[in-house]
Amino acid sequence: MSDALGIALVGCGTVGGGVAEVLLRHRERLAQRAGRPLQLRHIVVRHLHKPREPFIPRELLTTDFYGVVLQDPNVHVVVELVGGTTVAREFVLAALAAGKHVVTANKALLAEAGPEIFEAARRAERTVCFEAAVAGGIPIIRALGESLAANQITAIQGILNGTSNYILTAMAERGLPYEEALREAQQHGYAEADPTLDVDGSDAAHKLAILAQIAFGVIARPADITRQGIDQLHPMDIRFAHELGYTIKLLAEAWTRNTTPPEGPRGVALHVAPVLLRHTDLLAQVRGAHNAIAVYGDIVGETLYQGPGAGRGPTASSVLADLIDLAVGRAQRTFAVARLWSNTDRGFVLDPPEQVHSRFYLRLLVADKPGVLADIARILAQHTISISSVVQHEAPENGGQLVPLVIVTHYAATGYFLDAVTQINRLSTVAAPAVYYSMGD
Ligand SMILES: NC(=O)c1ccc[n+]([C@@H]2O[C@H](COP(=O)([O-])OP(=O)(O)OC[C@H]3O[C@@H](n4cnc5c(N)ncnc54)[C@H](OP(=O)(O)O)[C@@H]3O)[C@@H](O)[C@H]2O)c1
Repeated sequence: MSDALGIALVGCGTVGGGVAEVLLRHRERLAQRAGRPLQLRHIVVRHLHKPREPFIPRELLTTDFYGVVLQDPNVHVVVELVGGTTVAREFVLAALAAGKHVVTANKALLAEAGPEIFEAARRAERTVCFEAAVAGGIPIIRALGESLAANQITAIQGILNGTSNYILTAMAERGLPYEEALREAQQHGYAEADPTLDVDGSDAAHKLAILAQIAFGVIARPADITRQGIDQLHPMDIRFAHELGYTIKLLAEAWTRNTTPPEGPRGVALHVAPVLLRHTDLLAQVRGAHNAIAVYGDIVGETLYQGPGAGRGPTASSVLADLIDLAVGRAQRTFAVARLWSNTDRGFVLDPPEQVHSRFYLRLLVADKPGVLADIARILAQHTISISSVVQHEAPENGGQLVPLVIVTHYAATGYFLDAVTQINRLSTVAAPAVYYSMGD
């Protein structure tokens, strides 16, 4: 067998500990799959004396990334599993400059600093692998970048945040209020102590930016992706959706459209939001902390990938796949061709979200009196939006109180719909700001 691939782990927490365990416990299997040994040479941590799992060799631990890892000529790959966008960025750039390949699971870092990191990698003629950065154990980066490489991807719809999906499943199936479902997710270790990035859609937006780069070549900064999380979702909307035959999921979506003139660049709109999916839709049936991604290609049609989107084992599995690819030499070749996060024009531009056409679910709190529905229907019609169905539960006969009114529209441009909502909110008979979600069909 040829020379070992020397590896330095930077970070030995949830994911780093899992990667170390596989590297140490499955040496022979990995060497056989990679055609050469994968040798763990150093583990960089922040606290040297913190208790570690018994299989972690103390002699491999160090706090000195620059002095130990970068100075070791037998380290070929730095695996960044620190997290965050500050120290991790410095480690990654320094590793590349020192001639090391990089494997990372850090979606926030790639979404924030992708262009800088990939340019640095090209300059140093080194490779950056990041299968673990999106959807944990699901091999979606390889699916998009390699297995579907002959296709033009036309749309992506993904459940990319397991915490949100766990909360939504608990709210829909067991009727739990949002706060209780979140507490449960935290007790199971799915949600962070500060779950903001999970539930406000930011984490899913980071992952969508990465997928959109691979599929469409667009460089989407987090600010380019409109997002709405599940933190404001009311149980009433989950119940109304259910009554209408729909399940609410937090989806990260990329939709392409043909622009006119047809020879011009095509638009792709990126957004993260709760979406109503028919109960029969496969994505609607993804429960608990799982992730799933539907990818539409012009040759293959619709493909669906499902599996554990986070956690020690699933994320380590993807990191190890990258290390094996580097050991074999596949990753270097694919990386050189893909030219990720470069300014290579792949024929797509980011579309403003107002351009996207969708059906909409609109819930209003209205006074129960004559003419209210007519006023709302008139405003919608003025914006060329027609109504598909209306749900209003029977109110007591004495009248005058506030009642929820749900309207489902036919397809409409988001921009027109939002203008209509602004006007509807101004009606004196509408007692609270409208709640609305797009529908996935
Ligand atoms: N957890 C998941 O399920 C999951 C899934 C997909 C992707 N990811 C990504 O994987 C990365 C790691 O996540 P994690 O959950 O494993 O994090 P974690 O459990 O918090 O572990 C972080 C590790 O980094 C070390 N560290 C922090 N700052 C450091 C510094 N300045 N110098 C050296 N070491 C430092 C810590 O050292 P000490 O041990 O000494 O404190 C710890 O070992 C993140 O980018 C995350 O987004 C995680």
